[in-house]
Amino acid sequence: MGYRTLFFALSFILFAYYIYIPMPEGIDDRWKLAVIDAAIKIASNLAEFTEAMGLMKYEEFLRSIMNLQLTNPISDENLTVIDVDFRDIPVRLYLPKRTSERQRPAVIYFHGGGFVIGSCKMSSYDFLNRWTAMKLDAVVVGVDHRLAPKYPFPIAFEDSISVVKFFLQSTVLAKYKVDPARICVSGDSSGGTLAAAVSLMLQSDPEIKNKLKAQALISPGLQLIDSFMPSHQLYQHGPLLTRAVAAKLISRFVSEGKMLYQAIMKNQHMPEESRPLFKFVNWSTFLPEKYKKNHIYTEPILGKLNVSNPNFMDSRVSPLLATDAQLQKLQLTYLLTCEHDILRDDGLIYVARLRKVGVQVTHDHLENGYHGALSFATAPFNLNLALKIRDKYTSWLKNNL
Ligand SMILES: *[C@@H]1O[C@H](CO)[C@@H](O)[C@H](O)[C@H]1NC(C)=O
Ligand SMILES: *[C@@H]1O[C@H](CO)[C@@H](O)[C@H](O)[C@H]1NC(C)=O
Ligand SMILES: *[C@@H]1O[C@H](CO)[C@@H](O)[C@H](O)[C@H]1NC(C)=O
Repeated sequence: MGYRTLFFALSFILFAYYIYIPMPEGIDDRWKLAVIDAAIKIASNLAEFTEAMGLMKYEEFLRSIMNLQLTNPISDENLTVIDVDFRDIPVRLYLPKRTSERQRPAVIYFHGGGFVIGSCKMSSYDFLNRWTAMKLDAVVVGVDHRLAPKYPFPIAFEDSISVVKFFLQSTVLAKYKVDPARICVSGDSSGGTLAAAVSLMLQSDPEIKNKLKAQALISPGLQLIDSFMPSHQLYQHGPLLTRAVAAKLISRFVSEGKMLYQAIMKNQHMPEESRPLFKFVNWSTFLPEKYKKNHIYTEPILGKLNVSNPNFMDSRVSPLLATDAQLQKLQLTYLLTCEHDILRDDGLIYVARLRKVGVQVTHDHLENGYHGALSFATAPFNLNLALKIRDKYTSWLKNNL
């Protein structure tokens, strides 16, 4: 009872404080965004508070809020929606009811949440995947990989690859009447990381006969070795995703230590031996001029803080660390970036590197967009940007899958 009053008072004070953070002129959903942004900052502060008080872990507090968005599988006149397990990993399947002469395309979707929070069963992802299944007359598979810190790196990747490999088996594709030549992996934010990593792994795996036709990456995180790119600097306070929250989630994913979080914030979390990798993420080489603006490239400071974590150098968490030869094997790609997003430059650099090696890429950049809108697609938020992204993504799929 005491805590509840305290929480209420704290929320009120924080809201009064955060609501005055000015949102950029012209940004999509400007006023709604100010409210959601304040609410997220409050949630993050309260989560830190509950953790410091020993009441609840940071991620547990955030999950308890996000769980309000969880839905049951609900079929309708057009779709059968069911929750099942693929190799012990929970997935939600969207199966069109209409009988079709032709085999259907399929989309496997990975949700965002920094590998620590989120679920494909949240109403916003359910809404997106339902829409995709309807518009494309496609089988859609929403994936719930296990979450960190209980299940740290590389479990999210192992779960994701396991689901995709299970689905790609000829018997499974036949069961759902899926055309093996028309399968896409998609995801937003950390889900985009998973889709990119799964693509890299499968396209170069000689044992996989049914290759993926496409990948669709929405505001993906594609590297963790440089946390001070121009977009990290410009949008460090958000909206929606701040540099501090991203660093917090990521450090929980790769290891438990607090030291790592502080090192990432200083951009001094990489060891000396990682130096050769920086050429793959060098924004000075890969960003188009207009995004470099007045930023000046500085060489990384390596090996100063002793928090060296080999996971950062793994191309599964950092698909941008793949070599050109590995990237060259990638399939048709859709990549959407938003301007007001700390992860903007990850996406822009990936587009540049993929095009350089001849991978066919469609790139949409939303000047008035920001990170994470897809998680607020449904009531009571109904963000316009979420619908814009949904429509761009599904119309690309419609024309290319
Ligand atoms: C089912 O599909 C039809 C035709 O596309 C559409 O008019 C109807 O609204 C859909 N039903 C639902 C519940 O989405
Ligand atoms: C990054 O690129 C700049 C300019 O293209 C170059 O001067 C610098 O040496 C590069 N640094 C790394 C680590 O690749
Ligand atoms: C870094 O940490 C490792 C393991 O904790 C230790 O063996 C090593 O001596 C440390 N190096 C420095 C420079 O502090």
